[in-house]
Amino acid sequence: MLKAAVWGASGMAGGEVLRILAGHPEIELAAAVSRGKAAQPVWTVHPHLRGDFPEAVFAAPADALALNVDVAFLALPHKASWPVIKEYRKRGVRVADLSADVRLRDMAMYKEWYGQDHPAPELMEEAVYGLPELYREELRGASLSSGVGCNAACAILGLWPLAKAGLITDARLELRVGSSEAGAAPTQGGHHPYRDRTMRVYEPFRHRHLAEVVQECGLSEFVLTMTMTAAPMVRGAQMLAQVRLSRKVKEPELWKTYRAVMGKQPFWTLSPARPPHLRLPDPRLVLGSNRALVGFSLHEDGERLLVVSAIDNLMKGAAGTAVQCANLMLGLPETSGLAMKPIYPA
Ligand SMILES: NC(=O)c1ccc[n+]([C@@H]2O[C@H](COP(=O)([O-])OP(=O)(O)OC[C@H]3O[C@@H](n4cnc5c(N)ncnc54)[C@H](OP(=O)(O)O)[C@@H]3O)[C@@H](O)[C@H]2O)c1
Repeated sequence: MLKAAVWGASGMAGGEVLRILAGHPEIELAAAVSRGKAAQPVWTVHPHLRGDFPEAVFAAPADALALNVDVAFLALPHKASWPVIKEYRKRGVRVADLSADVRLRDMAMYKEWYGQDHPAPELMEEAVYGLPELYREELRGASLSSGVGCNAACAILGLWPLAKAGLITDARLELRVGSSEAGAAPTQGGHHPYRDRTMRVYEPFRHRHLAEVVQECGLSEFVLTMTMTAAPMVRGAQMLAQVRLSRKVKEPELWKTYRAVMGKQPFWTLSPARPPHLRLPDPRLVLGSNRALVGFSLHEDGERLLVVSAIDNLMKGAAGTAVQCANLMLGLPETSGLAMKPIYPA
């Protein structure tokens, strides 16, 4: 078995990496890293994993760094990840990052969206954007995969086939997201009495994850907006994109365009045309799995298109995608450990 260290293991995305590793046939947990919970049983924070890790305790960062591992998953906050990436890269250890630290390739773009110069630009050059659906070949044998923004992953997987075909003139993206996106630490807005059953719009135009959509879809920021709404669910992200097409199309061309890209993808699936209530995906259909669903509906004028995509933010939007990247980097079957089915109804 290959060995993995999971940093940020007491958090939402780190906990999800642990859940995947609990069933992974080729990678086992060597260290679940926490700054404040060292020596505490892992199951006290992740009680659903008690049966899988009955004896495991959290490791302090210094102890974890002293261990020989094959891969490190870094589910750390933005700006906390890059120093740890550097430590592991010095040791020649492959890293699947989950943070925003190495997602953008362009330094000026990083400065614009994150408000400072990148402290380790060489890592941005080394990193492959961590979405295997777009970078499968580049990820094979790579040393560093970036995290993906969960909203970015949802949006890119919905729009990329159209963008690649040059069919997008402009698009208004609305993302509806669950509370687990905000991480495990309680906040005023995330506290249950305020967050439960909310439909709170918290970003009108320009969520940070839009930068990744711009980068990966090759579209100008000035033809895109990303509006964010906190929706009443724990897991899940759903994108509704109102797209103005660059020319009039007929529906069969769109099916062909999407199928040409998505046909052989293990986790990226087109919703069926019928019945109508299953055509535009509901995040409930992917919860707990690494799947992304995409559906669309063409306006009768042939120029306006609604694209809907749905993922589980903790899986395809974070931990699932990171494990998929690690599988590719380590030369394992891409889908290893990721066969879990969605739970439905949830
Ligand atoms: N939640 C999602 O849906 C999602 C989706 C995609 C990507 N991500 C990315 O994944 C990363 C983790 O997100 P999350 O939602 O899991 O957050 P989280 O629940 O807050 O977990 C982050 C963990 O990192 C550790 N940590 C916090 N501050 C740190 C620091 N300054 N230095 C070192 N460790 C620190 C904490 O553990 P200890 O205090 O125990 O050390 C904490 O439990 C973020 O970069 C986020 O952008 C999250």
